[in-house]
Amino acid sequence: MDSVPANRRLWNRISNAYQDKHDPRIGATPRLWGMYSIPDARLRALGDVTGKRVLELGCGAGQWSRALAAEGAAVVGLDLSEAQLAAAARAMGQARHPLVQGAAERLPFAADSFDLVFCDFGGLSWAPPHLAVPEAVRVLARGGRLVFNVASPWFEVCYDEAAGRVTTTLQRDYFGLGTVAEGDGATSYQLTYGGWVKVLRGAGLVIDDLIEPRPEPGTPNGYNETDPPDWGHRWPAELLWVTRKP
Ligand SMILES: C[S@@+](CC[C@H](N)C(=O)[O-])C[C@H]1O[C@@H](n2cnc3c(N)ncnc32)[C@H](O)[C@@H]1O
Repeated sequence: MDSVPANRRLWNRISNAYQDKHDPRIGATPRLWGMYSIPDARLRALGDVTGKRVLELGCGAGQWSRALAAEGAAVVGLDLSEAQLAAAARAMGQARHPLVQGAAERLPFAADSFDLVFCDFGGLSWAPPHLAVPEAVRVLARGGRLVFNVASPWFEVCYDEAAGRVTTTLQRDYFGLGTVAEGDGATSYQLTYGGWVKVLRGAGLVIDDLIEPRPEPGTPNGYNETDPPDWGHRWPAELLWVTRKP
């Protein structure tokens, strides 16, 4: 299944509303991970990027890319949606960096082009992982890292579609994970724990860490309603993979 055209249409359509809602938070402070905006200083997933060649896969309005460019990384922000890239271009400060339109499924870069490929609910959530992971590995240099944050299987199987919130009951089959319909043919992707390990190791990556970002009690989820409100403090809402190309 090729979800590229529908995902591009979706993100072009929702870009303005999405940025109006989320940019004031995720654009205000550098290096915030995920639905709970947990600082990387606490999770320590990315490390020092000074002088590194960095690709953000699905950069959106470039909140992460801008921050890393300002730290001295040579960043490329890639995204499928021209509306999202336009938002990134508008928000760029003095440390300008390239923005490229493309899909995580087939990256428009030569092999060995980057020292770090990363995303936060970007290309590894919106492209089939069995295509996007090998592509990320191809463009990474030896010793380079692929670091990415996605929703956890717990979060997906407890999401009540009708109520529009995450609950404490199982709503769908764990072994039925794979794709999540996002409307009008748009699709996001979700693997089981074993599925991720297979795809990552199958592409030749070493798994250095699997961080389970845990918000402090009372931290709001900026994207989804949860029942109870402190769901993310009690169960893992996200998986932050830290991997390396040996
Ligand atoms: C949730 S945003 C992630 C960006 C940023 N981290 C954020 O939280 O706003 C998802 C981004 O992935 C992009 N995207 C969707 N499908 C993609 C694909 N196949 N390849 C690359 N980017 C894609 C969308 O256009 C969107 O900008």
